[in-house]
Amino acid sequence: MAEELAIQGETKNDKYLSLMPQIKALTEGEQDLIANLSNISSAIKYGMNFFWVGFYLVKADELVLGPFQGSIACTRIKLGKGVCGKSWESQKIIIVDDVDQFPGHIACSSASKSEIVVPIFNSKNEVVAVLDVDDDKYATFDTTDQVHLEELCKRIGSWF
Ligand code: SME
Repeated sequence: MAEELAIQGETKNDKYLSLMPQIKALTEGEQDLIANLSNISSAIKYGMNFFWVGFYLVKADELVLGPFQGSIACTRIKLGKGVCGKSWESQKIIIVDDVDQFPGHIACSSASKSEIVVPIFNSKNEVVAVLDVDDDKYATFDTTDQVHLEELCKRIGSWF
């Protein structure tokens, strides 16, 4: 396993194209879910230079904080609450340009300004987790993030 990621490219799309094969290589020899989610959150945070990257796992009727990189975060989110709970409920990717404009947004850190949440589906098409990526700048996330993170989350869903 390489000790460090080497992210190449000028554009965000190029950076993702450089990062994703490295995430694949990093995780394909490892079966442990927590180990892989931990490395993925670190790879995205430091590879793409985002403020906070982590997973919330569906446990009974709530999302529970899983592996993440960044400052401490709220541990439990109910269905339909916050951006994460809304993504779980609607089973859709949600991009928020300004978290203060999103009704019910849960502010784990006041530094967080924009956010993308991607639901993760198992083979029965149930949401089993969400990937939450936050940035400390407004309107960081767009369809480029959506395309690459959705592709990654499809692979992650096959591990559940
Ligand atoms: N902002 C999220 C909560 C999780 S933290 O940002 C890490 C939300 O509204 O669901």
